[in-house]
Amino acid sequence: MDDSRVEVKKMKPKVLVTHRLLPEAIEYLEEHVDFDIGTQEAFLPKEDLLRKVKDKEGILPLLTASIDKDVMDAAPALKIIANCAVGYDNIDIKYARKKGIMVTNTPGVLTETTADLTWALILAVARQIPQADTFARAKKYKGWELDLFLGKEITGKCLGIIGMGRIGKAVAQRAQAFQMKVIYTDPKVLLKEDRQKYKASCVPLDELLSTADIITVHTTLNPQAFHLISRERLRLMKKDAILVNVSRGPVVDELALAEALENGQIWAAGLDVYEREPEIEENLISRDNVVLLPHIGSATYETRLKMAIMAAKNLVQGLSGQKPDNLVS
Ligand code: DGY
Repeated sequence: MDDSRVEVKKMKPKVLVTHRLLPEAIEYLEEHVDFDIGTQEAFLPKEDLLRKVKDKEGILPLLTASIDKDVMDAAPALKIIANCAVGYDNIDIKYARKKGIMVTNTPGVLTETTADLTWALILAVARQIPQADTFARAKKYKGWELDLFLGKEITGKCLGIIGMGRIGKAVAQRAQAFQMKVIYTDPKVLLKEDRQKYKASCVPLDELLSTADIITVHTTLNPQAFHLISRERLRLMKKDAILVNVSRGPVVDELALAEALENGQIWAAGLDVYEREPEIEENLISRDNVVLLPHIGSATYETRLKMAIMAAKNLVQGLSGQKPDNLVS
């Protein structure tokens, strides 16, 4: 047989995509890797994850898949974990570093979308939009009344931003349209040009909590940020304040928040994220001074597609020996 005519087919690297992705991202992956999808459901049981990663060089997880020590140990050939999210608290980053496994995320592409949703949530809470919608659909609207669904004014109020990264800044930029005073807290102080651009001043956290009318949380979840908004800190907030969390649930003590809402310690809250997702504290579900969303901060087709493609490209770069664009560790 003439050896030159034997077609040498290069094996594509084996990858686990923990959940289904959008079709364009799947097409991209089909070209470059040999992949399995972990599940078509929202939840991938750990035993399935452990079984499916065994022979994989790469994992592309959604933020609902916990990529811990057990998972990394179950995949001896694992080179890269390409998270399809900007936050990567679902990955044991220290252990990945120890094992020399690359970790990437999807920064930048979801900034504006998440800031938009933050504002949608602020407005929904302040003007009680979901409650008013439910009321109208129930045919309870009997005519215009001076005191029907009285909300909180936004324009000219003080906005407190906890975590002035990309999303915090985009939220601050939108606050200018409402002529708000913006204060923020972040370990990094903004550069002078950014302070001018976002018209924001840095204050200590406790001062922010006791001063702001609307407080919005955009910090990343790390051990220091766990229950940053604690029972004690909730007590510092104004009685007519609004708290919004679009970052990660465990940053806010959810039980303490439910109590604060019940006792009238704060006026209302808007949450897109929860301490034990997908569970939501019963005490929150039963309250009508809280608007609850199912973690949809970045949920537009355009943005979720950009996230999936970015994660897939990071994965392919890492597996083909290049430095991925969005290497976290
Ligand atoms: C992220 O990317 O971390 C978000 O929570 C997804 O919207």
